[in-house]
Amino acid sequence: MSGLIPSRFIDDLLSRIDILDVVEPRVKLRKTGKNYSGLCPFHQEKSPSFTVQPEKQFYYCFGCGAGGNALGFVMNFESLDFVDAVEMLAKSIGLDVPREESGQNKQVDMRHAALLRMLDDISAFYQQQLRQHPQRERAVGYLKKRGLSGEIARDFGLGYAPTGWDNVLKAFGSDKEKQTLLLEAGMLIENPDNQRNSLYDRFRDRIMYPIRDSRGRVIGFGGRVLGDDKPKYLNSPETPVFRKGEELYGLYEARKKLRNPQRFLIVEGYMDVIALAQSGIHYSVATLGTATSASHLRILFKLVPEVVFCFDGDNAGREAAWRALQQALPLMEDGRTARFLFLPEGQDPDTQVRSIGAVAFEASLGKATGLADFFFDTLSARTDRNSLEGKALISKLAQPFLEKLPKGVYRQLMFDQLGQLTGVRVSAPMPAPASPPPQPTYPEQQQYTPNRPSFGRPPARNSPPKVEWSPCMRMVNLLIRKPDIIGQVTIPDELGEIRTDDRDLLLKVVEIAQAWPNSNTGELMSRIYATAYGSQLTELFGKELITPTEGMLEEFKDILQRLLGQHRNLKILRDTKRKLREMHSEDDPAFSGQPPDA
Ligand code: UTP
Ligand code: MN
Repeated sequence: MSGLIPSRFIDDLLSRIDILDVVEPRVKLRKTGKNYSGLCPFHQEKSPSFTVQPEKQFYYCFGCGAGGNALGFVMNFESLDFVDAVEMLAKSIGLDVPREESGQNKQVDMRHAALLRMLDDISAFYQQQLRQHPQRERAVGYLKKRGLSGEIARDFGLGYAPTGWDNVLKAFGSDKEKQTLLLEAGMLIENPDNQRNSLYDRFRDRIMYPIRDSRGRVIGFGGRVLGDDKPKYLNSPETPVFRKGEELYGLYEARKKLRNPQRFLIVEGYMDVIALAQSGIHYSVATLGTATSASHLRILFKLVPEVVFCFDGDNAGREAAWRALQQALPLMEDGRTARFLFLPEGQDPDTQVRSIGAVAFEASLGKATGLADFFFDTLSARTDRNSLEGKALISKLAQPFLEKLPKGVYRQLMFDQLGQLTGVRVSAPMPAPASPPPQPTYPEQQQYTPNRPSFGRPPARNSPPKVEWSPCMRMVNLLIRKPDIIGQVTIPDELGEIRTDDRDLLLKVVEIAQAWPNSNTGELMSRIYATAYGSQLTELFGKELITPTEGMLEEFKDILQRLLGQHRNLKILRDTKRKLREMHSEDDPAFSGQPPDA
């Protein structure tokens, strides 16, 4: 869970794994001399430019620039985060992944593990009830009436919470400690007024939908009544293992089914996801009774370049879409697409796909309204776009939204379109420095976006968005891209004295690079990911573009000299100030501690 993976273990893992064993089952390869080549799985191509070099334990694509070691390959290919990829590789050779825990983390992790184990057991219990309970016919009948196959019910782990107040309590709460755990997991409700039987099951006589995290672990449930009682759905409350703003129903199931999804569809309901999957559309996910959050979108855009929002065509639907658009704006980097599908009144994706069929449904996705059209149409609808005043108003209204767009061609195009629409030319101002994304709590700490902007597409090479680096970040970036720099530059101890942002990260990376002078990029990254600095790389490489390696050494040396030069100048300045101060305070003790104006 949240403990760090010791770097020794990653070294060990990489030394035991042969990259060929990892790539070969996933990509068809041909031996060409010492190396192997094949069609690159990371971009579309007709002739092979993807190579595996067993000697260097490295893969590289000459077409799209994707490259790395076995670990990086698994991350890219399976779209796993670092931790999950380590786990997958370790499992493939029968190793358990050790964690370095602080005492407190360890306790929290053990608590989480106990909760997850119990939720998993309860999910199995609900599934068993669907097969065996004396009243199972009612539940099964309901699912059949809704058109679900046994196969899809199994894929989504559907179950039945029987009638009665204490089925779960009895089966899983045999002692006080277990009852506390059940309460914490949201499976029981406590009634403080009733002294004796104060604990009872939250879910009774409902169809149970297990909610799984990205690794397939049950973290909560949704429960639907079989008839028309209210509330129609009951959901697990937020618990230490279930954070609604960060989880998407159906994401695990989708990723299990699809190796290389091209887009995700965001819908509202459990049943929508399941009905779509049954019709063969496996790439839909639902938010869990909450609005789509930026976290949700960040998760999806790491996996695919396109997200389609699905809403009712009514007013409430359009308002929800407008809120979703605002969450999406800051994430619309070049190469990403967001669309809005508005369904006919009274339909949801479940009913719609059943009525028009999967082919027509998918066709309607392709024709869904683009973000730009939805944005400008919505603004225009609120104003008179033919009058001068109306145009001025649109221009004024639009700007604060467009300013949220990240740097890039898309941003410029949107500002251009605003100019065309209103006749008011607005040049795209520099975006404000993006506020750092909220620190994901768990389990994203060590995630990174591989060196590839989006799934299935080569990195955009035209007008790449300019990335702004702090000098230290840039040095880190250069060092990681070209680790042999470390053998060619003398790093003075003075570097440890500089006072700039990201110094500590730089020092750590230098330390690691010096300790393992022959590392390649992937190895170096793996080692950094194994430290507390790993999460800082996420941002760094989320923006990474492919740059040629020539000139990197010079650039590195140049920045180093500049940093040290600045540092020395500042030091002289500080020393001078201190001396001046001392002179002053000797003259007049009242001055002591006051810096001179100079
Ligand atoms: P809907 O009312 O549209 O339900 O709520 P649905 O998904 O179409 O359900 P079916 O088809 O009648 O079975 C959409 C989503 O809103 C949340 C659930 O996540 C649901 O899937 N919801 C709805 C609740 O949490 N509680 C409720 O009482 C109703
Ligand atoms: Mn429905």
